[in-house]
Amino acid sequence: MAIEIIATGRAIPAKRLTNDDLANRLDTTDEWIRSHTGIGARYVAEEGVAASDLALEAARNALAMAAEQTGTAVETLAQSLDVIILGSTSPDYYGVPATACIVQDKLGAKNAAAMDITAACTGFIYGLEVAAGLLTVDRSRKRALVIGAEVLSRIVDWNDRGTAVLFGDGAGAVLIERTETPSEGKNRRGVLRTILRADGSGAERLRIKQGGSRYPYQSGGAESPPHVEMDGRMVYNFAVKAITGTIEKLLTQENITINDVARIIPHQANARIIQAAGKRLGIPESKFFLNIEEYANTSAASIPIALDELNRTGRLKQGDLIMTVGFGGGLTYGGNLIIW
Ligand code: ACO
Repeated sequence: MAIEIIATGRAIPAKRLTNDDLANRLDTTDEWIRSHTGIGARYVAEEGVAASDLALEAARNALAMAAEQTGTAVETLAQSLDVIILGSTSPDYYGVPATACIVQDKLGAKNAAAMDITAACTGFIYGLEVAAGLLTVDRSRKRALVIGAEVLSRIVDWNDRGTAVLFGDGAGAVLIERTETPSEGKNRRGVLRTILRADGSGAERLRIKQGGSRYPYQSGGAESPPHVEMDGRMVYNFAVKAITGTIEKLLTQENITINDVARIIPHQANARIIQAAGKRLGIPESKFFLNIEEYANTSAASIPIALDELNRTGRLKQGDLIMTVGFGGGLTYGGNLIIW
């Protein structure tokens, strides 16, 4: 038995904002943003577009890819879904209802369980393992959608140059299936191994303070509406350690070396974090797939967007061993090892 990714999809809003566009309204420059983060642009959802709208489009694109491969109608595939897991830092609603339920309804996935995962930028890595687990424990379940979807432009303080320049909107989705492919031997495929960790001692270092039961948001009060706050330097240091530790553990646990890995798909938060981690481990930069220059940090969506981009441009070959690795608010971190 294996849990295989059989199709991918993404949704990127049409509106593109360059660093120069931001420099027109904030005290920043293209040079500062590029040199400190590797970001050149980001996409921003139109007014009225919420996380579930981008999630739905990414999910439909993934189902359309599977429909083309299998000759099954998209509607039939949607009805065959057993689970929908959605990771988001910017869900349609905080707390309830889950954005995954909105997607489930609009997709016509009548037979699916649906829930959100709050693991910030690690949401996709967590979501993939949770979905894989649900397909494994009960053999009546076969297919799941794992989605990362963000409209972070709604929850950044556009007057704070320290955070506003970092984030972008978008969604990515993967369709996974429990197959009879062997889990051992040279023909094995799918999700091999996952590491999930958290360090809640850093919970306050990256948060949306208002709007929950700790700091209820009071309209008309002194505080600005709910927005992301971050201790950037602390998160940076944590991220480098989280990425290096996760890569090392995945390699050790699987008893392989970095040469066995075709590509590492990291969470796209800051190119300098990836460069620092790569340097510490002696991994060439070319091993990491980076598209942050175009999309900025799309939190839980960044890894599935990258997977779809690689998949649709033929840069993932059947049998390739790939690794995802990420970190985010919580603080959370982890990674997956997957044979494509
Ligand atoms: N433009 C120009 N100057 C800026 C900007 C900007 N956009 N932002 C900050 N600065 C200034 C600061 O005010 C400071 O000026 P000062 O020295 O006069 O005080 C100077 O640049 C240096 O600021 P630092 O914050 O020390 O800059 P740093 O090199 O640490 O880079 C950054 C900041 C990019 C935020 C970095 O710390 C980082 O990437 N941290 C990790 C962030 C991250 O990965 N977050 C993940 C969140 S994921 C999730 O779960 C949502």
